[in-house]
Amino acid sequence: MSETIDIPVSSSKAEKYSSLAVQLEALLGDEVDEVANMSNFCSAVQMVFDLHWVGFYRVQKDELVLGPFQGPVACTRIQKGKGVCGSAWANEETLLVADVEQFPGHIACSALSRSELVLPIRKGSQIVAVLDIDSEQVNGLDEIDVRGMEGLVNILEKRL
Ligand code: SME
Repeated sequence: MSETIDIPVSSSKAEKYSSLAVQLEALLGDEVDEVANMSNFCSAVQMVFDLHWVGFYRVQKDELVLGPFQGPVACTRIQKGKGVCGSAWANEETLLVADVEQFPGHIACSALSRSELVLPIRKGSQIVAVLDIDSEQVNGLDEIDVRGMEGLVNILEKRL
């Protein structure tokens, strides 16, 4: 297992994602423990990107429960269909929210979060978790983040 994440600060965002993907693959290596891999995933992402919050909510019966994350303390349980996370789970889709104040039912775990990206995490065809990313800027996340995070999520999903 590689023990650090090393990416030139001068890289473009897309370059950072490609380089991070290679390093995340090495970091997770042959580990298959879900919590261990989700924990290192969050740490690696937070070492590269200036995010307010990055973390997982895991499906536990009929709700999402807070999993490994980096950032301020957060809400622990989210019902299916509620907020951005619960909607991404219920509708089985990635959600990019440019301005959280425009998303009906957004759950404000932190007043500093202004834009958000949520991606379902699949084990086979089953959604087992969601990845939630929060930026402090309106429009702080874009299609490059969607594609980049999808690539990183694939690396995690291969080990579930
Ligand atoms: N804002 C999310 C809740 C989780 S926190 O952002 C960490 C939502 O609306 O689902």
